[in-house]
Amino acid sequence: MGIKKTVSVLGLGRMGSALAKALVEEGYEVTVWNRTPKVLENTRSVATPEEAFKSDVVVTCLPTYDVQQPLLTNEIKTLVNLTSGTPEQARRTAQWAKDNGVEYVDGVIMAVPQQIRTPQARIFFSGNENHHVLQAFGEPVYVGEDAGLAALHDLALLGIMWATFGGYLQAVALMGSEGIKPEQFTPMAMSWLNEMSTLLPEMGAVTQTRDYETDVSALDINVSGLRLLTEANEEQGLDATIPKALHDLFERAQRNGHGNHSIASVIEEIRK
Ligand SMILES: NC(=O)c1ccc[n+]([C@@H]2O[C@H](COP(=O)([O-])OP(=O)(O)OC[C@H]3O[C@@H](n4cnc5c(N)ncnc54)[C@H](OP(=O)(O)O)[C@@H]3O)[C@@H](O)[C@H]2O)c1
Repeated sequence: MGIKKTVSVLGLGRMGSALAKALVEEGYEVTVWNRTPKVLENTRSVATPEEAFKSDVVVTCLPTYDVQQPLLTNEIKTLVNLTSGTPEQARRTAQWAKDNGVEYVDGVIMAVPQQIRTPQARIFFSGNENHHVLQAFGEPVYVGEDAGLAALHDLALLGIMWATFGGYLQAVALMGSEGIKPEQFTPMAMSWLNEMSTLLPEMGAVTQTRDYETDVSALDINVSGLRLLTEANEEQGLDATIPKALHDLFERAQRNGHGNHSIASVIEEIRK
């Protein structure tokens, strides 16, 4: 068996702690740095990021790039960046790494800390095909040589998650306004979501052909439906920000000539 690389983790929040523990379990010699000194079993804590940079690989898991960037120096040998950011922030950091002779991997964690070290923890990475230590955290998935691609995948999927959770919470509030409990309603929501997901391949294909003719459901009908949903939430005394935002976007597409087209035509508004 070869000698394992030494690894440092910067940031021992919920996720960083889970990553450091996973590295220990995987048999790495782990050094940790956290702004507020923290002891983590079987790791060596250091007082400054510079001391952590002596390791072969430095894993960062900080809240934002604004926090992370000032800490980085060209003493780092290999940087595995797991701090969430935009594709442009990732590309800028990749450029900084190139200019400073630092090997760079950009990764995003599609999991919660409790899923780390399970096959459910997918780690998208880009910019460098060598995933270094990522396999200690879950299932590394290489998504391309542009360093920004991991962040792009992350935010696209999280966007679906936030829209889904927002829609679900709105629905729970609406049902709750008449005393219907989430435990009654949630099974219906789950089977509805399953059904909706089967429509995505066709919708995705249409966004490419841009042939929005439909014999299923015209945008006009959906704009009316969103107006009803907005009014119903208001009538029940609820905040209607989410249905109103969707209504306004769909209505713009309607005004721009897509009233008789399928919902997929809304992408023409989004792409602007
Ligand atoms: N939690 C998740 O489910 C999850 C999932 C996927 C990705 N992520 C990503 O993982 C990263 C960390 O998230 P988290 O959930 O671990 O956050 P968290 O639990 O809130 O921890 C934040 C960490 O950042 C440190 N920190 C905050 N401000 C700092 C500053 N100005 N300078 C230096 N260190 C600072 C904190 O140090 P102190 O202890 O000193 O406050 C703490 O170690 C984020 O980019 C997040 O998007 C998280």
